[in-house]
Amino acid sequence: MPFRLTLAALCVLFAPHAQAADSLDNRIGEALFRRMWVAAPTATQAADGLGPLYNARSCATCHPRGGGGRPPDPAVEGDQGVGYAIKLNDDPVYGRQIQANAILGQVIEGRPRVTYREEVVRFPDGETVRLRHPTPVVEDLGYGPLAEATVMSARVPPRVHGMGLLDRIPAEAIAAEAARQAASGGPVAGRVNHVTVDGKRQVGRFGWKAMHPTLDHQDAEAFSLDIGMSTPAYPEPWGDCTPAQTACRSAPHGDSKQFEGLEIPSTVIGLIDGYLRDLPPDGSLEAPKDKAGTKLFADTGCAACHRPSWRTGEDPAHPALSNRDIFPHSDMLLHDLGPALGDALPMGEARGSDWRTTPLWGLNRLAAKDGQLSLLHDGRARSVTEAILWHGGEAAEAKDRFMTLPAAKRKRLVRYVLGL
Ligand code: HEC
Ligand code: HEC
Repeated sequence: MPFRLTLAALCVLFAPHAQAADSLDNRIGEALFRRMWVAAPTATQAADGLGPLYNARSCATCHPRGGGGRPPDPAVEGDQGVGYAIKLNDDPVYGRQIQANAILGQVIEGRPRVTYREEVVRFPDGETVRLRHPTPVVEDLGYGPLAEATVMSARVPPRVHGMGLLDRIPAEAIAAEAARQAASGGPVAGRVNHVTVDGKRQVGRFGWKAMHPTLDHQDAEAFSLDIGMSTPAYPEPWGDCTPAQTACRSAPHGDSKQFEGLEIPSTVIGLIDGYLRDLPPDGSLEAPKDKAGTKLFADTGCAACHRPSWRTGEDPAHPALSNRDIFPHSDMLLHDLGPALGDALPMGEARGSDWRTTPLWGLNRLAAKDGQLSLLHDGRARSVTEAILWHGGEAAEAKDRFMTLPAAKRKRLVRYVLGL
């Protein structure tokens, strides 16, 4: 496999931080995750094909150290946030996402921003919290106005640690959890987002609306929408450029015979996928030790969706990751959290107000302090308390219970969540 060897040689140079214990493939995968792709044409063809329109040049730009992103800070002129993206419902000109960058000679689609309106929420005991109601905006639209029917939904990148363990929760177990919740007859009734990929109906599990059944499907979409590179799943070298964007469609591309006629061959997707599948969940491999906190979390109704634990399935290639208890604190299902969090952008079977329960593990490793976090799908919540107050719909009862807890218990619960 001459290609693999050349790439290996190139990539190891890019991975000075990889741990020595990692397999060579994982180090290459990590290097590819961090690699800054460049515009075609180049002499080697091994790293070219970026864009023509794109959001970022590498996966790691939006998922720094595997962590999440954040929205732009409206108070800081020109701030773009980290990995903040505005999704569209297939605008006839702009396609499925606003690309904020372009290779030389091409026009960017616009600059994703956000404006906030503040609302003061008062707890029964008088304590107040400010919530930010976001309105996504695109400044400097490069190709005329968006279509009348186009809707926008802003997203920040989720944390990608622990993906491999989530990937190893058996699909049947996720479906069984949905059936259990439906049979319980309560307000919490999570649903699977069934997605058809390669003609097969599968259980969606990745992304804010669980619209990707597998990591390679998610990664391939990232190459297409975020980086503008072709893969077996999305073979168009122009990524998200529509036929209306003629200059983008006719720009030089990096598809090459030696890479399956693509810019990103299946080997590269496989290596990145393998790296993410083995990335540990950043702490939290053990059950939470704080028993009183665990009980408060359950009694408040949080555990109904943020299901504390799962058991991974059998994976002969990875005995260490097989048949083990994991503690992501998510049921991997879609829930209707009400209109305040909703958008008008259904994805698969997920409606506008449906979101996948976010796994809470790894919150303890976030660099930012509570009050400076970027939680929820668009990063609107700066603290765990704000995130809880946005919960409505199926989670309204849990939110109300939280609001009526004595202040000391609310603090206790927040501390517990931040420790996960
Ligand atoms: C422009 C920023 C950006 C780039 C570049 C990017 N991502 Fe993402 N990523 C996102 C956003 C935003 C989401 C959430 C999308 C959604 O669900 O709406 C996401 C979601 C994900 C998820 C799902 C995580 C979960 O919790 O379900 C994975 C895995 C992922 N990205 C991997 C990658 C890989 C691999 C690459 C490089 C090929 C990449 N990303 C490049 C912004 C980015
Ligand atoms: C009905 C299901 C449900 C219940 C009950 C529920 N949640 Fe959630 N939670 C979700 C969903 C779905 C999201 C993702 C919403 C989004 O991103 O817009 C979420 C997101 C969060 C987040 C943000 C995580 C991040 O990284 O962005 C936190 C924190 C959280 N929940 C904590 C709690 C706590 C604490 C409780 C109990 C008071 C609770 N949740 C009850 C479903 C639920």
